[in-house]
Amino acid sequence: ASHTSSVLPAQRAQYEPPWQNTSIIGIAGSSGSGKTSLSLAIINELSLPWVVLMSMDSFYKPLTPEESAAAFRNEYDFDAPEAIDFDVLVEKLRDIKSGKKADIPVYSFEKHARQEHSNTIYSPHVLILEGIFALHDQRVLDLLDLKIFAEADGDLCLSRRLLRDVRERGRDIEGCIKQWFSFVKPNFHRYVEPQRTIADIIVPRGIENKVAISMVSDRVHKTLHTKSKLHQQELRRLGKVSEDA
Ligand code: C5P
Repeated sequence: ASHTSSVLPAQRAQYEPPWQNTSIIGIAGSSGSGKTSLSLAIINELSLPWVVLMSMDSFYKPLTPEESAAAFRNEYDFDAPEAIDFDVLVEKLRDIKSGKKADIPVYSFEKHARQEHSNTIYSPHVLILEGIFALHDQRVLDLLDLKIFAEADGDLCLSRRLLRDVRERGRDIEGCIKQWFSFVKPNFHRYVEPQRTIADIIVPRGIENKVAISMVSDRVHKTLHTKSKLHQQELRRLGKVSEDA
């Protein structure tokens, strides 16, 4: 095994970190800031087999019939931390980190509700948690190996969101604009932006920022390398593998 800290691409898929110690990266940022694209670019750059992307959408609390009706009128506040079930999120993250299977709900933005089916996440080496509140809850922060804030201009965020919500989330322009100015924008300033101060890195320009993407990837590879070495040492200490393994 290499003892240098730099990691060559050819070595990348060979780490054997303990399966019970998933490295978790949190990516927060405004709605429309490009968190998902940035996550996918990091995953692509990592070029590792056991990487999973988890969105915080999965943890929106179920709505009462009255709240649901308000949501369809764009009068429900999905941009306050109270809209998210952090207790369940933390439980799932702890399960994943300790090597247990976790069923993750799949969310429908068209229905403002969870779908019937869920996805199972089981023992990834790396998990990326993306969401407007990925760096909000202290219990989540305690589980993160790397904290990223995706930075983008407000106009860019709004235009991206309009296009996406109309094309992919079954919304109309008037409703989107109403929701943006009632909830998304004010709560960005109140709750989302302050997360910048606890981020390890702030990434401007999203997927165009090749330097940041490669720095994040290198950092994750180093972390896995270290975990892998410690794991092997521990196995040796316990006499589970021979010295030359
Ligand atoms: O993908 P993105 O980070 O934009 O998702 C978060 C946004 O989804 C929030 O700003 C919230 O306003 C919106 N949302 C919504 N309808 C829901 C749930 C969330 O418009 N049912």
